[in-house]
Amino acid sequence: MSETAKSRAAALPHLRRSGLAMGDSIPLPLTMAAIFHAPGDATGFNQYGRFSNPTWDAVEHMLAHLEDAPCVAFPSGMAAISAAFFAVLKTGDRILLPSDGYHTTRALADRFLKPLGITYDVRPTSTFLDGGFDGYRLAFVETPANPGLDICDIAAVADAVHKAGAILVVDNTTMTPFGQRPLDHGADIVVAADTKAPNGHSDVLFGHVASRNADIIAAVTGWREVSGSIPGPFEAWLVHRGLETLDVRFDRMCSSAEVIARRLQGHRAISGLRYPGLEGDPSHNLARAQMERFGFLISFELASEAKAEDFINSCELMQAATSFGGVHTSAERRLKRGDAVHAGFVRLSVGCEPVEELWKAIEASLDKISG
Ligand SMILES: Cc1ncc(COP(=O)(O)O)c(C=O)c1O
Repeated sequence: MSETAKSRAAALPHLRRSGLAMGDSIPLPLTMAAIFHAPGDATGFNQYGRFSNPTWDAVEHMLAHLEDAPCVAFPSGMAAISAAFFAVLKTGDRILLPSDGYHTTRALADRFLKPLGITYDVRPTSTFLDGGFDGYRLAFVETPANPGLDICDIAAVADAVHKAGAILVVDNTTMTPFGQRPLDHGADIVVAADTKAPNGHSDVLFGHVASRNADIIAAVTGWREVSGSIPGPFEAWLVHRGLETLDVRFDRMCSSAEVIARRLQGHRAISGLRYPGLEGDPSHNLARAQMERFGFLISFELASEAKAEDFINSCELMQAATSFGGVHTSAERRLKRGDAVHAGFVRLSVGCEPVEELWKAIEASLDKISG
């Protein structure tokens, strides 16, 4: 981790310190309130729970510290992505999405943007630069892309997108701000599902939009207030608590994933192994230059649907579950969710278990299916 990332991590649990009065609780109080005391002109104060909430403020403060940019919190990753789209797009705009990223983003464009006259095209993440960006209002990338783990050069894409007069949105869900900060590479907007590693305990959905452009933040905040796409205060409180340990969990998960990916390379049951941290991976050189860590997601293929199901279900230290980034190692056969992958394709999310124990369980399960 760079020195600046370390000092950012160190300051994170102390952000509220300077605002504490004598006798205040050090852990964040949870404010469950639809209404606030607001006699007369209450401009500048909390008035109504759809406009503001002190627990949102605290979690947004943490996220803003990590992104080095103002952040607006949302009730899920998709709510954050929707907010970015609805806040900046208008009828007649054309946008570009990854063909291999999270499928619901394409579904959003297809089912809800297209009928409003906002058209979209798709392009693979690994060749996102090819073809240029003329005619687009917005380009959206996810890097590493979920679930195939291809990556693209954010700085190069941002440069080309800006030359074409468009804006770049990066979905940073797979990396978190500890793994990669797309705004530093020139992106205009970051969207993320804090449902994943930032909360980390798989008990909440949450999301945020970050931008250093004040007009974009104002539009996204206005969208939240008017559409009512607001996070619950308790969810915000849980994410605040999760963020306090993100650095430790992310570090453990990425370190373990590096060990496990290396060992998976040699296993006879595995083909098509992808992990940006492996020297032979097509994403490796760019990942080294652009990312602080190589992440906690690994993908690979097993011979068939049955073998993949058997591998996941037999492993004692693995949850058969969609989503990723939780403290529990989990895995999913992604064809089940409609991704364009082989029937035996598995996305593995490495959790916080001690790595040698985890590897023994994974190896035993792989040996069982190839036995
Ligand atoms: C890359 C990516 N972006 C966005 C989302 C959406 O997040 P949420 O489920 O919190 O709406 C997901 C969910 O899996 C995801 O993987």
